[in-house]
Amino acid sequence: MGGPPGLPFAGIPPEMQPRVEKLLDREPKHPKSTAGFSHVRGPQRPFTLGRFLRPHWLALAAGVAMVAVETLTQQAGPLLTQQAIDQGVVKGKTGVVVTISLLYLATVILNGIVTWLRTAFTGRLGQQLMKEIRVRVFSHIQRLSLDFFTEEKAGRIMTRMTSDIEALSDLLQDGIINLAVQGFTLLIVMVVIFTYNVRLALVVVLAVVPVMTVMTLWFRSASEKTYGRVRERIADVMADLQESLSGIRIVAAYNRQRFNNVKHRNIVGDHMEANVDSARVAAVYGPGTDFVGSAGQAIVLFVGGWMVLHHTLTVGELTAFVLYLSAFFAPIQQLVQLYNTYQSGQAAIVKLRDLLATEPSVPEETEAEELPLIDGAIRLEHVTFGYDPARPVLRDIDLQIAAGETFAFVGPTGAGKSTVAKLVTRFYDPTEGRVLVDGHDLRHVSLGSLRRQLGVVPQEPFLFAGSIRDNIAFAAPDASDDEVLEACRVVGIDELVARLPDGIHTPVFERGSSLSSGERQLLALARAFLAQPRVLILDEATSSLDLRSEAVIEHALDVLLEGRTAIIIAHRLSTAMRANRIGVVLDGRIAELGSHDELVAAGGLYAEMYATWISHSGEHTPAA
Ligand SMILES: Nc1ncnc2c1ncn2[C@@H]1O[C@H](COP(=O)(O)OP(=O)(O)OP(=O)(O)O)[C@@H](O)[C@H]1O
Ligand SMILES: [Mg+2]
Repeated sequence: MGGPPGLPFAGIPPEMQPRVEKLLDREPKHPKSTAGFSHVRGPQRPFTLGRFLRPHWLALAAGVAMVAVETLTQQAGPLLTQQAIDQGVVKGKTGVVVTISLLYLATVILNGIVTWLRTAFTGRLGQQLMKEIRVRVFSHIQRLSLDFFTEEKAGRIMTRMTSDIEALSDLLQDGIINLAVQGFTLLIVMVVIFTYNVRLALVVVLAVVPVMTVMTLWFRSASEKTYGRVRERIADVMADLQESLSGIRIVAAYNRQRFNNVKHRNIVGDHMEANVDSARVAAVYGPGTDFVGSAGQAIVLFVGGWMVLHHTLTVGELTAFVLYLSAFFAPIQQLVQLYNTYQSGQAAIVKLRDLLATEPSVPEETEAEELPLIDGAIRLEHVTFGYDPARPVLRDIDLQIAAGETFAFVGPTGAGKSTVAKLVTRFYDPTEGRVLVDGHDLRHVSLGSLRRQLGVVPQEPFLFAGSIRDNIAFAAPDASDDEVLEACRVVGIDELVARLPDGIHTPVFERGSSLSSGERQLLALARAFLAQPRVLILDEATSSLDLRSEAVIEHALDVLLEGRTAIIIAHRLSTAMRANRIGVVLDGRIAELGSHDELVAAGGLYAEMYATWISHSGEHTPAA
């Protein structure tokens, strides 16, 4: 593997070296990103279009300058036609006709080139801006605390990242530049026709502008409503689709396909109706303005023709008028379309602003200290906590877990065991009281330095689409293959890995859907093992395992937990009873506390649970 970096093979024949280098030169450069991540966000003012665009004003100004040249060259056509007719055709001067035609051709070519450059330039600029906003929203979402993701539907967050950002992209890419083009066109046309003939220009303006204004005002309010509805309905379609897809197994198992079809059909039907409504509005407005425009041309032809006959207008000017008239209507129609783009872009900005203004509920202090290497003494000091502060889940818990101790939480479902684990990892802050690690209040230490020293195996382990290796080395990406294999061996999935076609490089697909849930738990354990954390938190980490695998894990745990603090949450008493101390959580309080023997002797809830367990496992002790 001594070849140059970036090449999948080792040796290159010398005669091919120059060509390879040439190829490498042409490779797009993806320099190692310097983008970092910080939990603390600098002081930031609300997200607005102005603030977002301000740093790019130079590029935007360049775009507008190009637009100006583009529009000028575009609108030179009718003017040159008028000159050719009046100065050349009418007076019979061939030279003038030829010169002006060539000039016309030159403006067309110039216009083509400038339009090409401008489109490429603004396209690129728009994409850069989109990338910037996508990264900004994404890193903000990463910064938010768990409660945000509990309350906000994933589908809605996805909508922010897709349809809202696209609406903003439309506004930036087409909207703003088009606004410049059309506004500029309108201005030029007005100036030119009034210079030609004030009376005829006034006829145009008076005949056409009032009708257009009324139609446009109607269209604006009508389309605003229908467009808003279309956007809401598409969000419904997306949400239903997403939920149906992620629940597809349950849907199939309970034969809910027909029901789901009906539901989706209704949602899609609503979406269709909203679109039909907006199409109806457009169907009136688009052809309507066309009609007014053509009627305007007829009026100009009539009035202008009369003026030509009475020698107050030249033939060329009449031609230019008719030509400019179409150039006069196109921008008005466009501007109204743009109004829609502007509306939805503005709505998207408001939604993104709200999202970007959401503060993490578990913030990192600006002055947060780096937690030094910890021994792992954990203290919950009169901790009261509720997801909804009005309904406490944990009440006044006061508990000290010594460094190096293995502490087990047991208790009925919903008692609050996982919640304790979430407080120790500072996914939430206690409503009252403090959580301390080695005497440091978690509120005052940086989240990074805390979580780096914690290993968590949650109740529902999550695997990412990627290889087994990627998933195990998640917390330690630089680990060697041997270290990953060792972690596999410790938790006892080495046999499974050996059976797989590509070993640890075998992909596990989204959420590890190609593995059994026991295998997923083992992978999650291997991930925690490899990270070698100072404090290990296992939340029902072995609940899906058979007894033999559990025995393997327990043996491995004995090794791993040497000199480390561990919090183990377990329904199986066989796991819990190995801990130094056990806390029985009941109704958000620690009802009993002590070693296994002490608790059995005390004859309380734990002793009862133990007795039940013994009698059951006595009946059907597995052959293992
Ligand atoms: N994100 C949340 N938002 C609101 N309430 C929650 C949330 N998570 C848990 N709860 C509630 O808090 C209580 C304690 O939940 P917790 O997950 O700590 O229970 P547990 O003891 O771990 O139960 P289990 O043994 O089933 O895992 C439950 O009544 C639950 O309904
Ligand atoms: Mg739990």
